[in-house]
Amino acid sequence: MESPLKYEKHIFICTNQRGENAPRPSCGEHPGIELVKAFKKAINDKKLNIPIRAQKAGCLDLCEQGPTVAVYPEGVFYGNVQLEDVQEIVDEHITNGQVVERLRLRFDKV
Ligand code: FES
Repeated sequence: MESPLKYEKHIFICTNQRGENAPRPSCGEHPGIELVKAFKKAINDKKLNIPIRAQKAGCLDLCEQGPTVAVYPEGVFYGNVQLEDVQEIVDEHITNGQVVERLRLRFDKV
C-alpha cells in the first residue's frame, strides 16, 4: 500500500548545545550525539521493514524536560530520555505502536 509519508516513523532527537552560562539547559550536553547514535543502532538492529529515520534536531523548546525526543507522525514527545530508554522506545513505540507513557510529555490544557 502506498503512503503519502516519506517516513512511517521519523524520530527527532534534540542535540542543541547553548554553552555553560546559558539561561536554559541544553539537551545536547549529555548524552548528546550518543543518543542519536543509540537510536540509529537500535533501529538498524531491529531490521524493521518500514521507511524510518532517526536524526539529530535543534531545540524543540522543551529544554527543561530534556533530553527531548519527538516521534512523528504521531507528534509524541518524550522527556528526560537517557541511553537506557532507547531500546524501550524502539521496541514499544516504533515497533509495536505503544507510546512509552512513563517518558511521554503531556500538553493537555487544564
Ligand atoms: S535544548 Fe533540547 S528542547 Fe531545547
